Amino acid sequence: MNGGFVGVIGAGIMGSGIAQVVAQAQRSVLLVDRSPELVERAIVAIRERLARRVAQDRMTSQEMESTMANIRPATRLDELKGSPLMVEAVYEDPQVKLQLLRELQPFCSKDAIVASNTSAIPISLLSSAVAYPQRFVGMHFFNPVPVMKLVEVIKSISTRDETVEEIVSFSLAIGKTPVVVSDSPGFVSNRLLVPMINEAVFALSEGIASSEDIDTVMKLGANNPMGPLELADLIGLDTCLHVMEALHSGLGEDKYRPAPMLRRMVESGLLGRKTNQGFYEYGNSG
Ligand code: NAI
Repeated sequence: MNGGFVGVIGAGIMGSGIAQVVAQAQRSVLLVDRSPELVERAIVAIRERLARRVAQDRMTSQEMESTMANIRPATRLDELKGSPLMVEAVYEDPQVKLQLLRELQPFCSKDAIVASNTSAIPISLLSSAVAYPQRFVGMHFFNPVPVMKLVEVIKSISTRDETVEEIVSFSLAIGKTPVVVSDSPGFVSNRLLVPMINEAVFALSEGIASSEDIDTVMKLGANNPMGPLELADLIGLDTCLHVMEALHSGLGEDKYRPAPMLRRMVESGLLGRKTNQGFYEYGNSG
C-alpha cells in the first residue's frame, strides 16, 4: 500500500477533506464523484482551504501547488483500477453504499484495501457487498478532516489483522491518530456524540431552551468547543438522522429514537451549513 494512488469516492464534505489530507502527505489521489461539476466543486473547496493556510503562513504556495497537483478528478469507477486503497465517502445510506461497493468490485484487486468512512453503518453489513471482506475496513475520519486528528479504524469479524495494521500505518503517515475499535453501530464516537445531539434537539423541541442557550450550556458548562446544535449543522442533519436510525435499528433500544424535529428538518431540506440553514442560518459561503 506504500505506492500507488489512493482513491476517494464521494467528493462531498468528507471526501474533499480526505483527498486534501492524503494529497498534503504527498500521495496521489483520484477523487471520484458522479459528475465533473461535483468533483470540481470539491477541488475548488480544497484550493480555498489551502489558500487560507498559505495566507496564514502555515504552508508555502509551492506546497499548495504540489498538493493540488496530487489530486486528479474522475467520474468513473473503472479509473480506480490499480489503486491499493480506496476510501468511500458517499451518502450515509446503506443502499447507496452497498450499491457503490458492488459496482466497485470489478476494479479491486484482492490485495487492495477498501475502506468506508461510514459514520454508523456496521462494517460487517457493508462487507457483504465486497469480494474480499478480509481487506475491507472502517476508516472513520472526523469533520473538518484537515483539522481533526482522530481516525476510528473499525475492524469487522472478517477484517484481517494485517489490513488493520496497514490502515493504522497509513493513518499515521497522513498525520492522523488512529484508534482501533470493534464493529458496532456508531462505533464509539457516534454512539456517544450523536445521541447527545439528538437529545439537544428534543430539548429544543420541548421548549426547554433556545438553540443558542442549549449550545452555550454545553460550551461553558461541559467545555465542549462547539454546542451540540451548531455541531449538528456542521455534520449535516441528514447524516445525524442516519446515525440515529442506525443506532436505533442496530442496537434495538428506544433511547436511540431520532427526535421528530430532526426528522422534520431533514424532510424540509434544512440540513445545516451545507444548505445554509439548520438550527442556525448561514450566509452563502456557509
Ligand atoms: P456529502 O453529502 O457532503 O457528500 C457525499 C458525496 O457522495 C456527494 O458529493 C455525492 O454526489 C457523492 N456520491 C453519492 N453517491 C455516489 C456514487 N455512487 N459515486 C460517487 N459519488 C457518490 O456527505 P458527507 O458529509 O461528506 O458524508 C459522506 C460520508 O462520510 C457518510 O458516510 C457520512 O456518514 C460520513 N461522515 C460524515 C461526517 C460529517 O461530519 N459530515 C463525519 C464523519 C463521517
